[in-house]
Amino acid sequence: MLPMQTPQNAAAATDGLDPADWTGLRALGHRMLDDMIDHLAGLRDGPVWQKRPASDALEQPLPREGADLAAVYEVFRREVLPYSVGNLHPGFMGWVHGGGTAVGMLAEMLAGGLNANCGGRDHAPIAVEQQVIAWAAAMVGLPQGASGLLVTGTSIANLIGLLVARRATLGPGCRTDGVGGSGLVAYTSVAAHGCIPQAMDMAGLGTDALRLIEADVQGRMATPTLVAAIARDRAAGLRPFLVVGTAGSVDTGAVDDLTALAAVCRAEGLWFHVDGAFGAFAALAPSLRGLVQGMAEADSVAFDFHKWGQVPYDAGCILVRDPQHQLDAFAQNNAYLRRQASGLAHGYPWPCDLGPDLSRGFRALKVWMTLANFGTARLGEVVERCCTLARRLAAQVMAEPLLELLAPVTLNIVCFRVAALDDAANAALVAAMQEQGRFAPSTTRVAGRLAIRCAIVNHRSSEIDVDELLPAVLRLAGNK
Ligand SMILES: Cc1ncc(COP(=O)(O)O)c(C=O)c1O
Repeated sequence: MLPMQTPQNAAAATDGLDPADWTGLRALGHRMLDDMIDHLAGLRDGPVWQKRPASDALEQPLPREGADLAAVYEVFRREVLPYSVGNLHPGFMGWVHGGGTAVGMLAEMLAGGLNANCGGRDHAPIAVEQQVIAWAAAMVGLPQGASGLLVTGTSIANLIGLLVARRATLGPGCRTDGVGGSGLVAYTSVAAHGCIPQAMDMAGLGTDALRLIEADVQGRMATPTLVAAIARDRAAGLRPFLVVGTAGSVDTGAVDDLTALAAVCRAEGLWFHVDGAFGAFAALAPSLRGLVQGMAEADSVAFDFHKWGQVPYDAGCILVRDPQHQLDAFAQNNAYLRRQASGLAHGYPWPCDLGPDLSRGFRALKVWMTLANFGTARLGEVVERCCTLARRLAAQVMAEPLLELLAPVTLNIVCFRVAALDDAANAALVAAMQEQGRFAPSTTRVAGRLAIRCAIVNHRSSEIDVDELLPAVLRLAGNK
C-alpha cells in the first residue's frame, strides 16, 4: 500500500490538480531527472534485461485516494526502471529497437509539460510538425510540398499509405460505398513485414488480395515475377493497384531494388509505396545512400524515427508525394472542426485532415530536437557504424566453423546459428543469453531454419559488444 496523500496536498486538490507546494514538486522533479540521467550514463554497467521478480506492486486495486507523488515515484524506481525492455543498452540487438537519447528524453518532458493537442488549430507545435515533415521529405528525397504525419509507428504509417493508395485508385466512392467487390490486388515481397498483410486486412481488402512475390538470393523482390503476377491478375479481371517495396526487411535487412519497382509501377499505373521502417535512414549514410535512392520515386514512404533515428518511442512517419491524395483519403467536414479566417481555428490542412487521429500528442518535438541537435550527418554516421559493426560480426561468424551465416548482410542485421544445434536448441540459447543479461539478440526463421538474429540499431553499440558476442554464444553452446 502506498502512503496516503499529505493533508497539504489533499487541500490543494480543491484548486485543481496542481500541487499546493511547487517547491516540493520542483525538488522531486529534479530528482527524477537526475535519476534518469544517472541511469542513461550508467547503462553499460547494468544488465541489458532482467526478468521482473514476482511482485504485487502493479496488481493493486483502483486507488480511490491518491498517494504522495514521492511514494508513487518510488514504485516506478523500484518496480519499473530496472525491468524495462533493455533497448537503451549497447548489448541489445533484438528485433529492431532504437536506443533513444537523452535529448529525446528531455524533449518528451517538454512536450509533456506543454500538453499540446496536435490534431490541428493554429499553434507552434503544428509548425514544428510541419517542419519535421519537410525535413523527412528532404531525407527520403520526396519533393518539398509532400504531405505527411507523425504516427505511432511504421505499421500504422503503412496502413495510411495503403488507404491513400486505395482512395487514389477507387475515387471518392470507396469512402461512402466501401470496397466490397473492388477487385483490388496489391504486391509485396515474401520478406515484407507482417503489418502489410495486416493493413490489407484492416483496409477491408483481405490478405488474400496481397500477392507475396518471391525474393532473390539477396532477399529482394523478384521484379520479373512481380510483372508476371500483375499480368496474371489483370487477365483474371482483377485490379492491381499497389506495390509495396521494402527498404530494410525485418528478418535480414534486405533492400528491394526500389528503382526497378518504381519503373514497374510507372509502366503499370500502380501506386508505389515504400516500407522503409528502419532502412529509410540509410539515406543519411553516404556509403549506403545508393541502396535506397529509389525511395525518391515513391508515391508514399513509411518509416520510423524511433528505430535508426534514435528518437524515443513512439515516432513513425508517413509521407505522401501528392498532398491532395492524402487529403482525399482522410479529410472530413465536421462543423465542430470548421476552419476560420483568423483565431485559433485558422489554418489548413490540419493533421486530422491527413490521417485517422484527431487528438494527437506533440510527438514532433522530440523528432525536431533530435534532428536539430545532432544533424543528419551525425545520425548518418550512426547508421554507417551500425552497418560496419554488422559486417564485422558477419565476418566473425564466417570465420568460425561452429557457426553458420544464414543470410547476406545488406545493412545492419546478421542472422546466423550454431550449426550443430537444432532449431529448439538455438532458440533456447538466445533465451539463455537474454537471461544472462549481457546481450539481447532475438530469433527469426530464414529459409525455414531458426536464426539467431542480431540487429544493430543502437548508437551505443560498439566493437566491444560485437567482439564479446560470439564467445558468449559459443560458451552457451558448450563449445568453448
Ligand atoms: C520492415 C518493417 N516494417 C514495419 C515494421 C513495423 O514498425 P513499427 O513497429 O514501428 O510499427 C517493422 C518493425 O520492425 C519493420 O522492420
